[in-house]
Amino acid sequence: MSAPVVPSGSGLEAVDLSDRTFWAQPPEVKHAVLDQLRAEAPFAFFAEPEIPYLPVGPGYHAVTRYADLEAISCRPDLFSSGAGAVSIQDMPPDLNEFYGSLISMDDPRHAKIRRIVAKAFTPRILEGLVGSVQAVAEDVVARARRTAEEGDGTIDVVADLAAPIPLRVICDLMGVPDEDRAMVLHESNVILSGGDPELIESEEHAVEAFLTAGALLSGLMTRMAVERRSHPADDLTTALVNAEVDGERLTDQEIASFFILLLVAGNETTRNAISQGVLALSEHPDQRDRWAADPGLDKTAVEEIVRWTSPITWMRRTATQDVELSGRSFPAGTKFLLFYAAANRDPAVFADPHRFDLARDPNPHVGFGSKGPHFCLGAHLARREISVAFRTIFQQLPDLEVVGPPARLQSSFVNGLKRLPARLPR
Ligand code: HEM
Repeated sequence: MSAPVVPSGSGLEAVDLSDRTFWAQPPEVKHAVLDQLRAEAPFAFFAEPEIPYLPVGPGYHAVTRYADLEAISCRPDLFSSGAGAVSIQDMPPDLNEFYGSLISMDDPRHAKIRRIVAKAFTPRILEGLVGSVQAVAEDVVARARRTAEEGDGTIDVVADLAAPIPLRVICDLMGVPDEDRAMVLHESNVILSGGDPELIESEEHAVEAFLTAGALLSGLMTRMAVERRSHPADDLTTALVNAEVDGERLTDQEIASFFILLLVAGNETTRNAISQGVLALSEHPDQRDRWAADPGLDKTAVEEIVRWTSPITWMRRTATQDVELSGRSFPAGTKFLLFYAAANRDPAVFADPHRFDLARDPNPHVGFGSKGPHFCLGAHLARREISVAFRTIFQQLPDLEVVGPPARLQSSFVNGLKRLPARLPR
């Protein structure tokens, strides 16, 4: 395991952000470490985790200060996403493009694909979907109630509430047939598991499981793209096969990669914002009661949930040339992990950053990414899903009560819950 380059005697020598088990600890433990790194070693260096079949790279600097994270995000010419934004290791370029789509691309390709995709992600398609978010949330909540009534009165907030809402919304958005949806959930879980042993048979099989998941999802999407060309429907897949910029359309492969990106970027993130939002509200009942009674709080509450939970812990950037940051020099090729989770608790920007405050305003959090060309394409949709999910829960499950500790995902990349037990008293 790696040793961070941090001031000796600081107590940080034992910290290893590359160790998956670090990330399964309770938030207060992780945040105490991130706070110390931000204050004492804002560019701490860590060795890379070892992944079977992939070469171990040179290591990375953990960026924990808000200002540094912003400075990096808004200079994509100096800090590239193209070398891989979602993995610490350099992936072979074709794999990178396959799994990363536009999130792991640089200009000019990124700008072009983003323009094509934005053409398909039109306000009309999103507006249509916004209506269906309410219907999806109501159906999911009603099913959760039935599950509790037919069983022992308990539900799993993750499986019964938080996971199905974004999955069904994205599947509706793309027009995925009902019979393929369970596969889509399982395989997107595998891709984002970060190697969590519960989701992957063994570490040696992690790469194999990852590739199989990609192939299954890509196969489904290619089939759907072919179908939509001959039978157009009112969905994003149809818009994607037809969208054109400067005479260029997306290939089937590019559409499949974008689908994988939407699944992983839109599914797990929103799910973890909802499940950890439920947990945060159960830990702060006064805030919960206040929000339940006042829909006027929806807007600021959703932002605070995203800041508080930071569902994506980091994205990576790689220096394209020798660079300087906060007076420190780094050579070309240096890897930086942008720790959104740490920047979102930076006291230089957020007053009393460890206070969960649903009325926090201003709240310039970077949960959806910082300034720059890669800012989350689905932020608008995610905000809508989170606010509709909580309003529906307040109305239809006012008695929802968390009854046990959450099982946390062992992943540095996704801040996730695997299970959260709750009770719905009869
Ligand atoms: C709470 C939920 C969500 C969170 C926390 C989140 C977070 C993020 C973050 C941190 C980035 C990367 C920013 C960067 O590299 O600078 C990103 C990019 C992206 N997100 Fe989201 N996201 C969420 C929901 C969604 C949804 C619902 C969708 C789509 C349905 C989506 C689609 C995307 C896409 C396509 C990108 C890549 C944009 C690009 O590289 O140009 N996200 N998101």
